[in-house]
Amino acid sequence: MWSDFHERVQVCLNDLKSRVPAAFTPRAVLTLGTGLEGLKERLTGAVSISCNDIDIFSPVASPVHEKSLCLGYWGNVPTAILVGRMHLYEGYHPSQIAMPVNLLASWGADTFIFSNAAGGLDLSMRPGQVMLITDHINLTGHNPLTGSHIPSWGPRFTDMSQTYDRKLLTLARQAAARAGITCHEGVYAGLSGPSLETPAETRMLQMLGAKAVGMSTVLEVIAARARGARVMAVSAITNVNNPENMRPVSLDEIIAVAGRAGQDIERIVSAVLTDAYS
Ligand code: HPA
Repeated sequence: MWSDFHERVQVCLNDLKSRVPAAFTPRAVLTLGTGLEGLKERLTGAVSISCNDIDIFSPVASPVHEKSLCLGYWGNVPTAILVGRMHLYEGYHPSQIAMPVNLLASWGADTFIFSNAAGGLDLSMRPGQVMLITDHINLTGHNPLTGSHIPSWGPRFTDMSQTYDRKLLTLARQAAARAGITCHEGVYAGLSGPSLETPAETRMLQMLGAKAVGMSTVLEVIAARARGARVMAVSAITNVNNPENMRPVSLDEIIAVAGRAGQDIERIVSAVLTDAYS
């Protein structure tokens, strides 16, 4: 892996700054998970950059998802939207997965909202519903803060005692209640994938107290907390996994069902972004 992360991020940052008006500094960052790409349409005055043109996203041989970075305004809030993200299962290194966070935090972003598609582990959930992540279990076996330490990117031994911002969670809850959205809350278990879980693994995750399982988010959240940013994360529950009666899930199904949850996530995120800066 690269030894010159810091320099590469600075070069990327200068390149991105040259593509937008000088007054533009993203404050909020929204990462869109599988099936949730439609939310990027909410940005106004957006400049969209393919991640193939951004060095730190250097594509792996066969990326599973197309990725781009959109810079614009969500209402009045200057926002960066990452359409797609890097996953361990695509072959990216943990510190590379954290690079977009470090890039945008170095630019000045202070609030990171992550969305993802996830499998539900609470049998009261229905596909297409939404879950606010209140905490996580990193079961990937990786951590973006390993390797060479860059002090300006945060402490090596980053505190994770209060990872998901309480105020943002309250705003999200209130927004969901106002809009009549059924909104679950719970612990997200992050795995590396890409194979899905066996019934025994599903049972184990339930015993650990997880309510949703997915293959993203935890490494980016760790990097964002290291940077001292406010973090919120929300899952689109695309399937519900009952260990006593497991059914196969397909990527097509995950994408289609996440799309259905997209409208609810958009409403919640929209209210959070407006209220978080007012
Ligand atoms: N498991 C892991 N990741 C997922 C799932 C699942 O059931 N559904 C969507 N992403």
